[in-house]
Amino acid sequence: MRSHLLILLISLLILKSESINCNEKSHSSDLRVFHINSQCSPFKTSVSWADTLLQDKARFLYLSSLAGVRKSSVPIASGRGIVQSPTYIVRANIGTPAQAMLVALDTSNDAAWIPCSGCVGCSSSVLFDPSKSSSSRTLQCEAPQCKQAPNPSCTVSKSCGFNMTYGGSAIEAYLTQDTLTLATDVIPNYTFGCINKASGTSLPAQGLMGLGRGPLSLISQSQNLYQSTFSYCLPNSKSSNFSGSLRLGPKNQPIQIKTTPLLKNPRRSSLYYVNLVGIRVGNKIVDIPTSALAFDPATGAGTIFDSGTVYTRLVEPAYVAVRNEFRRRVKNANATSLGGFDTCYSGSVVFPSVTFMFAGMNVTLPPDNLLIHSSAGNLSCLAMAAAPTNVNSVLNVIASMQQQNHRVLIDVPNSRLGISRETCT
Ligand SMILES: *[C@@H]1O[C@H](CO)[C@@H](O)[C@H](O)[C@H]1NC(C)=O
Ligand SMILES: *[C@@H]1O[C@H](CO)[C@@H](O)[C@H](O)[C@H]1NC(C)=O
Ligand SMILES: *[C@@H]1O[C@H](CO)[C@@H](O)[C@H](O)[C@H]1NC(C)=O
Ligand SMILES: *[C@@H]1O[C@H](CO)[C@@H](O)[C@H](O)[C@H]1NC(C)=O
Ligand SMILES: *[C@@H]1O[C@H](CO)[C@@H](O)[C@H](O)[C@H]1NC(C)=O
Ligand SMILES: *[C@@H]1O[C@H](CO)[C@@H](O)[C@H](O)[C@H]1NC(C)=O
Repeated sequence: MRSHLLILLISLLILKSESINCNEKSHSSDLRVFHINSQCSPFKTSVSWADTLLQDKARFLYLSSLAGVRKSSVPIASGRGIVQSPTYIVRANIGTPAQAMLVALDTSNDAAWIPCSGCVGCSSSVLFDPSKSSSSRTLQCEAPQCKQAPNPSCTVSKSCGFNMTYGGSAIEAYLTQDTLTLATDVIPNYTFGCINKASGTSLPAQGLMGLGRGPLSLISQSQNLYQSTFSYCLPNSKSSNFSGSLRLGPKNQPIQIKTTPLLKNPRRSSLYYVNLVGIRVGNKIVDIPTSALAFDPATGAGTIFDSGTVYTRLVEPAYVAVRNEFRRRVKNANATSLGGFDTCYSGSVVFPSVTFMFAGMNVTLPPDNLLIHSSAGNLSCLAMAAAPTNVNSVLNVIASMQQQNHRVLIDVPNSRLGISRETCT
């Protein structure tokens, strides 16, 4: 079985080893998803491994601040020019005629915002120009959407301005409506923020599309078309020639799929919470205090699926229990540390499996989703970490590396999150 899978993977690699056609048309309601370092991405960086980890820590702190009730109680990493943009992008066409933007996907945010012409401090040379779109309309202060925007204010010209921070960055924008075209689907009067001022380095260059579940998100605005249902398959970051997919709407979603209930936190309406009930290492269910995994809307505690964090973070007692059992099962080798990882081994060792046990659904991580390999010292590390020390975090985050090469289904009407193995191509 495993060797078949391997052969399949290898043949896919061979098939795909030529350069991919980045402009290939997406099918109806099925968008291609590129990793930020894909050959189809104009945002390729040569960020070092250590920097990736720093960015990830910043993302985690940011999510913790979203989940926490007292926002100000969690410090947001800043300074040091930390970039922590989400890692996956899709093509969105905005306006009439369409202007193409490569927007970052963020399953933990609602609002969409796009750098607009005239923006001060936007890093992108690709900017959306509302004046060149016949369907563009600036929303006025009395528009109902204005109340849903973060920190809304009424500008001198009576349009709806808002501002927000995103990680270590800040934006000022005004609410705009225009036609959004995704693959071949048309969403008229889509409300998003037109950024006119930006600072900081953690903003995705061509904007962000929030796939959260709150009122201003794409999911809520396209309810008639997609019925709050979508799925995605994130390609492995190492396979720069691969693309994944974002499939919008209930059509063509997998039927045979393991699911777990989606939980709703009214105080943090954008996050996709699930009930992680335990973690198995090898055949042992590790001993984790119930409070470390429990969902609590009042404190924001619990477990979320996030597409923007790279490595899974567990609250300290959960991580320590998992790591200790993992180490115990790696025979004849002692763990070393590398960067933010504390369970690394050099050379060839046999690793135990790790299974996330969600309510009604167990997910065993394939080796590529469990271990990160560093060429430095030929090390393989358990690709998880505890919440950074000195942050009193209560949030567990199932991150993109642990989700890669799976189809993750978000089905809000049926309050469920599904997951099944799939090689994203
Ligand atoms: C991706 O495609 C390029 C050619 O376009 C090729 O040189 C490279 O080896 C491919 N990479 C992978 C990981 O297949
Ligand atoms: C952001 O919005 C708030 C509330 O409207 C306002 O008090 C603040 O001055 C704004 N900040 C910036 C930088 O525009
Ligand atoms: C979009 O907004 C315009 C202006 O308010 C309105 O005339 C039009 O009917 C709306 N279209 C749809 C499909 O809601
Ligand atoms: C692991 O560390 C212990 C204690 O320092 C040592 O006795 C043992 O030989 C080490 N094992 C290996 C495989 O290096
Ligand atoms: C890394 O370790 C494996 C297993 O011991 C070995 O086969 C491989 O050659 C090593 N690679 C490097 C670059 O040292
Ligand atoms: C998940 O695994 C545990 C422990 O192995 C088992 O008891 C449980 O029945 C499994 N749950 C499902 C839904 O398969």
